[in-house]
Amino acid sequence: MSSGETDRGPLSLDLDSPETSAEESLRPQSLEEMIGQDRLRENLSIFVQAARSRGEPLDHLLFYGPPGLGKTSLARIVANEMGAQFHATSGPAIERPGDLAALLSNVEEGEVLFIDEIHRLSASVEEILYPGMEDFHLDVLIGEGPSARSIRLDLPRFTLVGATTRAGLLTSPLRDRFGWSARLRYYPVEDLERIVVRSGDLLGMELGPEAAREIAGRSRGTPRIANRLLRRVRDFAEVDQGRGQRVQVAATRHALDRLEVDSAGFDSLDRALLGSLIEKFDGGPVGLETLAAAVGEDKGTLEDVVEPFLIHQGFLDRTPRGRVATSRALEFWRSR
Ligand SMILES: Nc1ncnc2c1ncn2[C@@H]1O[C@H](COP(=O)(O)OP(=O)(O)OP(=O)(O)O)[C@@H](O)[C@H]1O
Ligand SMILES: [Mg+2]
Repeated sequence: MSSGETDRGPLSLDLDSPETSAEESLRPQSLEEMIGQDRLRENLSIFVQAARSRGEPLDHLLFYGPPGLGKTSLARIVANEMGAQFHATSGPAIERPGDLAALLSNVEEGEVLFIDEIHRLSASVEEILYPGMEDFHLDVLIGEGPSARSIRLDLPRFTLVGATTRAGLLTSPLRDRFGWSARLRYYPVEDLERIVVRSGDLLGMELGPEAAREIAGRSRGTPRIANRLLRRVRDFAEVDQGRGQRVQVAATRHALDRLEVDSAGFDSLDRALLGSLIEKFDGGPVGLETLAAAVGEDKGTLEDVVEPFLIHQGFLDRTPRGRVATSRALEFWRSR
């Protein structure tokens, strides 16, 4: 597993893959079990307590931010904390208004409907969702042509939890109907270190603090990547050191180098973007489309996955004239 593409694989969920089931087993189940994102967790905890003490459903929530930071985990946690049934779907899965009506007919008072990739809802579905969220009724059109008529369905008071990596693509009427929108941020190394230790425990690994820190520092600020690197380190350590041994930091470094994750946490796609920007385009400015063509990667992936981390690290600027490498990026690139 050394190419950028396979390395990036687990960022998008394939529901039947072994990676996904490993990921499920490491998901935190409660706000307390979740590590990091402290402000968000504190706020959410207040909203949950307030709703519970009033005996009311929680207001609709939106979680947004780059992949693998915990949006889906939080949606499940919200349902757990409310003691409510969790129903999950995604924007592209709801093709027609009738699909939404069918979904909502299974949801009861106080239950959570999670819509992943909510920015991909079609306009017609979005439109009937507005009154669903605001006034808890749906106006569904039955039949076609002159005999078509609209019927109104009353809905129980449910909680919609939306998640998206692209909050910028949400229409403002949809965004405005969430009682609270929370942005997930990249995790500092200390938080990732705690996540790696917790996951190591759950996987029955014996992992020294130095090894945990090494993995944390190379995880692109992302728990999903930390967990994935941890499982790969376990593979290397089991083969190199034998099973059930304490994982040494040297074996950890060896594994991470083999995975082509560098000490700044950049993976092959990050390096491809930086390298292209600096070497082919003299550090920019260069348009996103030109850059995507040069890297041979989809524009959306660069925008949603690669760039946010480089910007967060102070390596990249988005300017009106295009993408620009910062002096920090130039320095890093030359000193490699
Ligand atoms: N704060 C956390 N503490 C511990 N583990 C976490 C935390 N956040 C995420 N994880 C781990 O990372 C994995 C990915 O998280 P999750 O699926 O919630 O991300 P996501 O934001 O929904 O990603 P995507 O945008 O790709 O859907 C989870 O399976 C979980 O094991
Ligand atoms: Mg998710």
